[in-house]
Amino acid sequence: MPRTIIAGNWKMHKTAEETGAFFDAFLPRAAALPPEIEIVVCPPFTALALAASRTNGTRVRLGAQTMHWELEGPFTGEVSAPMLLEFGVAYVILGHSERRAYCNETDRTVNWKVSTALAQGLTPIVAVGETLDERNAGQTDDRVIAQTRAAFDGIARNLLDRVVLAYEPIWAIGTGKNCDPGEANRVMTVIRECVSGLDRTPILYGGSMKAENAGAYMERPNVNGGLVGGASLDPAGFAALVENAKV
Ligand code: 13P
Repeated sequence: MPRTIIAGNWKMHKTAEETGAFFDAFLPRAAALPPEIEIVVCPPFTALALAASRTNGTRVRLGAQTMHWELEGPFTGEVSAPMLLEFGVAYVILGHSERRAYCNETDRTVNWKVSTALAQGLTPIVAVGETLDERNAGQTDDRVIAQTRAAFDGIARNLLDRVVLAYEPIWAIGTGKNCDPGEANRVMTVIRECVSGLDRTPILYGGSMKAENAGAYMERPNVNGGLVGGASLDPAGFAALVENAKV
């Protein structure tokens, strides 16, 4: 069975000071949450140092929201895997739809980044998902299959145990219109089966997941957790979501 992960993607939210306030309230709650669920928080780069100092020695693991595929070089504004590792970052989200839409992330750069992350010892959380137009045109499965195959193109099969996937239908992100859990599970099964070697890979659902609907996703056999945006920002709400994700 893949392990269960609930990851909070804070996107462009929280200063370092606000990050400190989050952990003041969240860490006492985290100790009482189901121990089998891995809890990951992905703050902005500018809050990573503070988040690392606060989560050191706790069960909360850190993730970054993107990184460059090169280890260093003339890439103004970018951050590399070694820079993340210095803060004890374990995970990195790659190919989030917002970065694909606004920051030139492509299937090809996601593939390069997956390769670098694995070589450097970071666990990539590779995000795939369709737009509403693609869904309405009946292209959902083709889209997620193409994104998943491209992300892992040329990656040794034995490394696929070290990756995490996230199915995030773009129309469900930040809209409050979460994907029906049965349909999410169906697409996540398509994702798992489109590349050999993903049997033990955690696949997370993302898109308006909240404390109130987390349980309905986690009941499904191919859902191994969540990649949570808005509902990860409030410490009590995020703790309630993790609690409700217990299967
Ligand atoms: P919301 O949970 O705010 O819909 O965002 C989902 C997401 O994009 C997580 O990466």
